[in-house]
Amino acid sequence: MTDTDCILASRHLLGIEGLTREELLLFLDNADNFSEVMTREIKKVPALRGKTVINLFLEPSTRTRSSFEIAAKILSADTINISGSESSTSKGETLLDTAHTLEAMNPDLLIIRHKESGAPHLLAKHLKRTVVVNAGDGTHEHPTQALLDCMTIRQHLRIKGRGLSGIKVAIVGDVRHSRVARSNLYAHLLLGNEVTLVGPETLVPQDFLGPKAFGGKGKISIARNLQDGVKGADVVICLRMQLERQAGNYVPNLEEYSREFGVSERVLKAHAPDSVVLHPGPANRGIEVSSEVLDGPRSLFRMQVHNGVATRMAVLFLLATHKDSTHKELAAA
Ligand code: CP
Repeated sequence: MTDTDCILASRHLLGIEGLTREELLLFLDNADNFSEVMTREIKKVPALRGKTVINLFLEPSTRTRSSFEIAAKILSADTINISGSESSTSKGETLLDTAHTLEAMNPDLLIIRHKESGAPHLLAKHLKRTVVVNAGDGTHEHPTQALLDCMTIRQHLRIKGRGLSGIKVAIVGDVRHSRVARSNLYAHLLLGNEVTLVGPETLVPQDFLGPKAFGGKGKISIARNLQDGVKGADVVICLRMQLERQAGNYVPNLEEYSREFGVSERVLKAHAPDSVVLHPGPANRGIEVSSEVLDGPRSLFRMQVHNGVATRMAVLFLLATHKDSTHKELAAA
């Protein structure tokens, strides 16, 4: 696999924000390489033998948690899974105390999902030896989701003889609450792609174009109707309506939202006939996307899940390798 010593600036993966284009591509190239391992009869390589990976998931997850575990096991790491209800955080222990407790057992990597934005950054600041990977923090970032999305898009474009740069991406729906949208935005701006955010003002605030957000850093626009938003898109990313994060009423009702912004085959056929569709899952079928689209030929929904394993193998491998080289440098100093 590719040597990382001179290219990854951070020993943690907290977000796509702050990565360089080279770092992003390093993760994608390694994920491509690791996907071959998944086709073998014996899906096991010794790359992380002797390493311990803790999955600390304090918010529900199916895809991210299981793919991190599978990825670690294919790489021969030992894995431990801790969920919110099983951990002592449910008895009132602070996140930091929980993290220090886990670090005292000498794990190598701590994968954390948390409902609060910034939780992984807090751990990265305070933990001395453990590498922290953000598996989704509040409404902030979900970096490995963006990486697996980019890997999936790149695979599709390769078949068409195209590269991952210079494409048109539409991100449709609940951008306000979506860590997937933020991480994908950072990724596509790094890649030089044109991004249109599609949704009503309540879910796609105008300040996404403001100078303190993403505006000015790349080609971003906002569309207030689905037809204009997906027009000519190569890739349409549907976002889940994050009903658990919506304290207020952001849409009059879900039926009306779905009529206006639900991604349908009829709209795609008319306005983005060559597009492929991604959805991070879990999907609210019939709300943000129709089953016809999700299960249809333009959908990369299952491929995203498949690529999640190789992506997380790449992340674990690169960060564990990076940690080892950092430790060697410290020991030699
Ligand atoms: N896309 C995603 O993060 O799914 P899970 O919540 O199932 O992990």
